[in-house]
Amino acid sequence: MSLENPQRYTVTAALIYANGPIHIGHLAGCYLPADIYVRYLRSTGKDVAFISGTDEHGVPITIKAKKEGITPQEVVDKYYGQIKQAFSDFGISFDIYSRTSNQIHHETSQAFFTKLYEKGDFVEEVTEQYYDEVANQFLADRYIVGTCPVCGNPNAYGDQCERCGTALSPTELIEPHSTLSGSKPVMRATKNWFLPLDRMQPDIETYVNSHTEWKTNVAGQCQSWLKEGLRPRAMTRDLDWGIKVPLADAEGKVLYVWFDAPIGYISMTKEWATEQGRDWELYWRDEHTKLVHFIGKDNIVFHCIIFPAMLMAEGSFILADNVPANEFMNLEGDKISTSRNWAVWLHEYLQEMPDKQDVLRYVLAANAPESKDSEFTWKDFQTRNNAELVGIFGNFVNRAVVLTQKFCDNKVPVRGELTDYDKQVLDELAQFPDRIGQSIGQYKFREALGYLMDLARLGNKYLAETEPWKVIKTDALRTNTILNIALQISANLAIVCEPFLPFSAQKLCNQLRIVDRLDWQNAGRADLLVAGHELGEGALLFAKIEDDEINTQIQKLLTAKRMNELETKTIPELKPEIVYDDFAKMDIRIGTITEAERVPKSDKLLKLKVDDGMGGRQILSGIAKHFTPEEIIGKQVTFLANLAPRKMMGHESQGMILMAEDRDGKLALIAPGDAVWNGGGVS
Ligand code: 2FM
Ligand code: ZN
Repeated sequence: MSLENPQRYTVTAALIYANGPIHIGHLAGCYLPADIYVRYLRSTGKDVAFISGTDEHGVPITIKAKKEGITPQEVVDKYYGQIKQAFSDFGISFDIYSRTSNQIHHETSQAFFTKLYEKGDFVEEVTEQYYDEVANQFLADRYIVGTCPVCGNPNAYGDQCERCGTALSPTELIEPHSTLSGSKPVMRATKNWFLPLDRMQPDIETYVNSHTEWKTNVAGQCQSWLKEGLRPRAMTRDLDWGIKVPLADAEGKVLYVWFDAPIGYISMTKEWATEQGRDWELYWRDEHTKLVHFIGKDNIVFHCIIFPAMLMAEGSFILADNVPANEFMNLEGDKISTSRNWAVWLHEYLQEMPDKQDVLRYVLAANAPESKDSEFTWKDFQTRNNAELVGIFGNFVNRAVVLTQKFCDNKVPVRGELTDYDKQVLDELAQFPDRIGQSIGQYKFREALGYLMDLARLGNKYLAETEPWKVIKTDALRTNTILNIALQISANLAIVCEPFLPFSAQKLCNQLRIVDRLDWQNAGRADLLVAGHELGEGALLFAKIEDDEINTQIQKLLTAKRMNELETKTIPELKPEIVYDDFAKMDIRIGTITEAERVPKSDKLLKLKVDDGMGGRQILSGIAKHFTPEEIIGKQVTFLANLAPRKMMGHESQGMILMAEDRDGKLALIAPGDAVWNGGGVS
């Protein structure tokens, strides 16, 4: 059951690893829905703490450090700033965006661990763990990969399979190997502190089962883990990067990153509350506070089972009321991948499309992977911008403002007597804020956005049917009424679009010269703008996106794809060995192409005349996709001169032109370094 009508909310968004820049998948999966939710809550007058930051511990950081040849500290310092900036540029309105390397976080996590330790909640156990004898270290989490026992993914990590989401231990992996040295690990005994999730299962089950309102993708994952049976999970690691285990006999051990990271939500709330002079405990210890975690689907087990188990064990904190996890967003038909550079990076987007933050927010919200994986394509981006933002939203508001400038001296006109149609439109208008708000409250952001656009559609339809540009010729008072209503709808749009399109909402407020912030409570009203109020300067809210801009983006992705293929293409295997006599049988010579033409009905063949120093010969070559006839005439080539003649597409070919193949399959002529005489042999 969800908490009824809470006035205070703690909303968290996943603490992303500070090991790389962020892309549209991150925004769509977690941060944008969280921001829409929080902006809506604030607009309805709720007390909200919107908390996030970077996760700066764990193997993902040390692996990156090794790859870049810098220290883990340098890695997190580099990416914390970049990530924070990207979120801020896109209007993600965190109350605090902090980091788990802060002192307060170390202290809070260690105190949490100590409390559980002192209460006797951990099981201290010496177990055999994988150890890399080449790198001289234990292989925790992402230091070890192998095949997932659940779905067969050959690249599952030691803590989790990213393909099926299962939480794993290294010992569950099939054919594990070290990601540090590639070697096959050996077993070595080590002591760790385990949270006995097996014993806690009944309480966790009661908690999860009490939330029948959770999204089906979230509930489904929870049920499948519970059904499998929870196992004890180590909360410490034999690593040197992380928060030291606060025990005397724990030299060289740190807290498991999934132990400290979610505690980050608490320590960051403390940090924020201290800055603000507020009481942090209200946000974590008052049972009337609603705690909501926004995450991506790969984080579900940690937020729905492991973190709640930690909180239950600790005993003084509230548990999440909801964990609205999204699925993943794909890009142009393929999974987004950092290593393959198959992504739209936020910082690059902003450089290339400055001032279009809301367009991306809109397209990502409209396509959010709420119940299943979704897809981002640049064509869809363009269509949604041009047809929806420009064609519907922008068009309506622009018409209302421009007509007011033209017919009413840029002042809100007086509303006269209302027709039945006017009343019907105002009635409909009044229903939109609740409809949109309810969908947001249920984490159905796509649906909410659809309603928002319906309101803009209502405005467009109203103008199209009342035709003030015609009515003005005969009835100025009626025109005034129509434009007053159109402006009231526009002002309402400024309120209800703010959670989704905050930059445009601000622009719209400027155009309407709405100075005081209008809250959700005001939405639905038909008197937001009083008669005589002067509007600001009109400007288009959204601009059309041309094919060129989209093609540039598509081209960029194609380049990334090509680079990837190049990197992954392997050198062909050697053919079986031959003896000199086999080679000597081939008569390879140099000639010059003197004529070249396409062979009709063939897209591959070129018919060539080659000066072979012996009177010339005709050779057919399958190179038409790589060369035009014009560009190869006059070029020296190498050819096999004693290949038996054969017919191709009705033409005789007397030999074969030799070609070199590039890694991407492109052909190149093999010509002598210096010009040599035609007919000369190659040996
Ligand atoms: O998946 C990740 O990027 C994790 N660093 C998320 C942690 S969320 C929370 F628990 F802090
Ligand atoms: Zn799997």
